[in-house]
Amino acid sequence: MNKAFDVIVIGAGPGGYIAAIRAAQLGFNTACIDEWKNEKGGPAPGGTCTNVGCIPSKALLQSSEYFDHAGHHFADHGIGLSNLSVDIAKMLGRKDTVVKQNNDGILYLFKKNKVTFFHGRGSFVSAGDNGYEVAVAGAKPEVLTGKHVVVATGSSARELPGAAFDEVNVLSNDGALRIPAAPKTLGVIGSGVIGLEMGSVWRRLGAEVTVLEALPTFLGAVDEQIAKEAHKAFTEQGLKIQLGVKINEVKSGKKGVSVAYADAAGVAQTLQCDKLIVSIGRVPNTTGLNAKGIGLRLDERGFIEVDGDCKTSLPNVWAVGDVVRGPMLAHKAEEEGVAVAERIAGQHGHVNFNTIPWVIYTSPEIAWVGQTEQQLKAAGRAYKAGTFPFMANGRARALGDTTGMVKFLADAKTDEILGVHIVGPQASELIAEAVVAMEFKASAEDIARICHAHPSLSEATKEAALAVDKRTLNF
Ligand code: FAD
Ligand code: NAI
Repeated sequence: MNKAFDVIVIGAGPGGYIAAIRAAQLGFNTACIDEWKNEKGGPAPGGTCTNVGCIPSKALLQSSEYFDHAGHHFADHGIGLSNLSVDIAKMLGRKDTVVKQNNDGILYLFKKNKVTFFHGRGSFVSAGDNGYEVAVAGAKPEVLTGKHVVVATGSSARELPGAAFDEVNVLSNDGALRIPAAPKTLGVIGSGVIGLEMGSVWRRLGAEVTVLEALPTFLGAVDEQIAKEAHKAFTEQGLKIQLGVKINEVKSGKKGVSVAYADAAGVAQTLQCDKLIVSIGRVPNTTGLNAKGIGLRLDERGFIEVDGDCKTSLPNVWAVGDVVRGPMLAHKAEEEGVAVAERIAGQHGHVNFNTIPWVIYTSPEIAWVGQTEQQLKAAGRAYKAGTFPFMANGRARALGDTTGMVKFLADAKTDEILGVHIVGPQASELIAEAVVAMEFKASAEDIARICHAHPSLSEATKEAALAVDKRTLNF
């Protein structure tokens, strides 16, 4: 007999597991199916984010930053160290422990919220009067029926044609998180979020890193002024970033990888490196779902087609996260998961795409919400800009990290905040205030008039808001 559920969620990444928990909280009998396996073959819910994305990358960014600080900055504080060394195996082991804590945490949350978890691959079988039949191909094959199905199958690294991932020499995000020893030379194709984060990790651990980027501009989606400041900082740290290149051929062999490319001037070049990370974007996971068989419409790029409410072309089938349009971010997936569960319950779940924050966890960190100066110019919107450098912030000086700035963009007439852009220490935490402000449609003056603790980096946020009306107090 089929097991019957109100809601079946396929995928237990941040989009899926959160959708399942919220659906269960709302009183639905909910199942969540996920196929990710740990090294013992057991379940490892959490998706890309937990297993080979957000969490392990941040663990390694933290460890490598400590090492970098110990090697390069402790002396400024009068702390001497001799025989500084790094045990990469232990560092990777710690990262794996952090991942496992998160996998176990999600299994605990499923129990706590009474979500029934199935380990295996989910695929649509048929649509009937009682909803959809979904097969689970796992150690114990099952067929479930669900009145509603939420597809949250995520995404995978995009391969460069002719350079298949072998995870030994040519690495996706997965292999990039488990290189057993710092390579002497590391090539990175794509100077996007993964390229910069993982390039930073291995540079700090000793690799000479060269990043090859196809576009002529660095971090094109980031506010230009912020991107310029970040580029300067990364270059000073030793990341070699080449823009406007065209990759011609990647050859992998016993001695490493050789990348033939044309530089921005069209001159043929070769990069010889021990390992190569290819981080050129991600593709949606829909193979094996039987999307075509059931009539689930995909768009021309293979994403599941959804409307603004995450409804697909099939009644009561929803899709959230990386497998649908929009930014590929864990928190965007989570918000969509919550919104869909609430819509199934007849509520009015909503995701505000204008206030989704972005963070790049390099050093300096880059974070932003809302529109960039170039977007406002292109839209012909009249705006005022205000910036405040961390150089003039007492806490940043005490920390010993004065790189970067906070930048506010506000409507010229109403003073409504249109965008906030940060490059510098703790940008990932500082951006939260800007998100709250924008969600409540605050003006720059609202932030400028709020008391911020002293000494804190958040004072730079207040000062940047003051700068919009040219009345900074400390600069
Ligand atoms: P996923 O997390 O990809 O989860 C999908 C799950 O569905 C997987 O477990 C998969 O195995 C499973 N699945 C797929 N098909 C089936 C099937 N047919 N049956 C059963 N199970 C199936 N985002 C951030 O916001 N912050 C970050 O710091 C960040 N860092 C990142 C670092 C890296 C290296 C990478 C690669 C990504 C990072 N991201 C980050 C992006 C983030 O990981 C994704 O946006 C997020 O994981 C998307 O969530 P999701 O639930 O849509 O999909
Ligand atoms: P990305 O989209 O951030 O960057 C890819 C880069 O590769 C772009 O700059 C693109 O121009 C370049 N590129 C594409 N094809 C190329 C080619 N043939 N040759 C050279 N360069 C080429 O993609 P990335 O870094 O793979 O990350 C995927 C997604 O994962 C991100 O967009 C983001 O949504 C998510 N992510 C988020 C993180 C965070 O929130 N901190 C961290 C890591 C990933």
